[in-house]
Amino acid sequence: MSTLLLVVGVVVGVAYIYHHVVVKGARCTSKAKLHGKTVIVTGSNTGIGKTTAIDLAKRGARVILACRSTQRGEAALEEVKRESGSNQVVFMQLDLGSLKSVRSFAENFLKSEPRLDILINNAGVYLQGRTEDGLGMMFGVNHIGHFLLTNLLLDRLKECEPSRVVNVSSMAHNFGKIDFDCLNTHKALGLGTSFMEVLQVYSHSKLCNVLFTHELANRLQGTKVTCYSLHPGAINSELARNASSVMLMLLKPVTVFFFKNTVQGAQTTLHCALQEGIEPLSGRYFSNCTVREVYAKAKDDAAAKKLWELSERLCGLA
Ligand SMILES: NC(=O)c1ccc[n+]([C@@H]2O[C@H](COP(=O)([O-])OP(=O)(O)OC[C@H]3O[C@@H](n4cnc5c(N)ncnc54)[C@H](OP(=O)(O)O)[C@@H]3O)[C@@H](O)[C@H]2O)c1
Ligand SMILES: *[C@@H]1O[C@H](CO)[C@@H](O)[C@H](O)[C@H]1NC(C)=O
Ligand SMILES: *[C@@H]1O[C@H](CO)[C@@H](O)[C@H](O)[C@H]1NC(C)=O
Ligand SMILES: *[C@@H]1O[C@H](CO)[C@@H](O)[C@H](O)[C@H]1NC(C)=O
Repeated sequence: MSTLLLVVGVVVGVAYIYHHVVVKGARCTSKAKLHGKTVIVTGSNTGIGKTTAIDLAKRGARVILACRSTQRGEAALEEVKRESGSNQVVFMQLDLGSLKSVRSFAENFLKSEPRLDILINNAGVYLQGRTEDGLGMMFGVNHIGHFLLTNLLLDRLKECEPSRVVNVSSMAHNFGKIDFDCLNTHKALGLGTSFMEVLQVYSHSKLCNVLFTHELANRLQGTKVTCYSLHPGAINSELARNASSVMLMLLKPVTVFFFKNTVQGAQTTLHCALQEGIEPLSGRYFSNCTVREVYAKAKDDAAAKKLWELSERLCGLA
């Protein structure tokens, strides 16, 4: 009996420590205040984007919630204001699946806001399909939309330097690969719709984020605009909302124990946006608030340059 109790006690203890140390992860320890600074967070109506926005508003930043749905965006606006106690929060409509919408968001923003100090490219989808412009959905939203957005806002970031761009990628990028033939013929990173194929395309799109950060850092050398990509952790958010119901049922018990909540999930984004002294690490990839090494394919200069040029052509920047 007492042995059984001991075993149960040890198991519960180990589980508790595991959850509180490993799952929870490191916290952003920066005390930075952001009064007079302006921040954009894409996809900030839910998930880690919303908790990131609340934290930044609490620090005094003027926070632009860039979200695709007006209804969800305005609901989040009220919540972010309430939770942060700040009224320096603004909703501006942005659909990253539409190049037209990205352009009109940038135009609106540049006209109405004099500063941009931190751009957080957080929005992401896990869904096959096509964007308004006929691009593969995950390629279009997770990569091309943010590519165009970042490029259109780059001059303003330079005017406000030192400034930062933060790209929320994923450790899934480790399983990614960029098939330039498929991109050239289908404007997508893959076409399948089975569970494994969708996961693959998501991974490819996240590899694009890491490669982009690498190339952008090269292009920004000599300026005080720095950029970072990151893995936020496995988080209990709405990201898997379009996965199959069987998948969601299997995932549920796992997420409760092994996944971070959205406040924990926002910490590495905040670290990259705020931590003093990380500027020499521009272009690098972070997880658990720590810089990490990546595979050669995620810092491949030639692939990064090729992807940049293809992206310029696809969104009419070249
Ligand atoms: N959850 C994880 O375990 C995990 C792991 C690694 C990386 N990440 C990355 O973390 C980021 C945030 O994800 P999350 O977990 O917080 O997911 P989430 O709860 O699903 O939030 C994603 C956000 O992106 C927005 N979005 C989707 N498509 C958009 C579009 N076309 N235009 C503008 N906004 C759009 C969504 O808006 P709507 O609500 O209108 O759809 C939502 O606000 C993503 O880049 C994701 O890939 C997540
Ligand atoms: C994350 O960092 C914390 C604190 O630095 C550490 O205790 C924890 O083990 C790390 N977790 C992972 C998964 O590396
Ligand atoms: C973020 O990713 C987007 C799309 O992948 C890219 O256009 C942008 O340059 C990247 N920025 C940084 C800082 O990585
Ligand atoms: C994805 O899931 C959302 C919420 O459950 C739903 O409203 C939307 O129609 C789904 N989209 C697709 C393409 O299945």
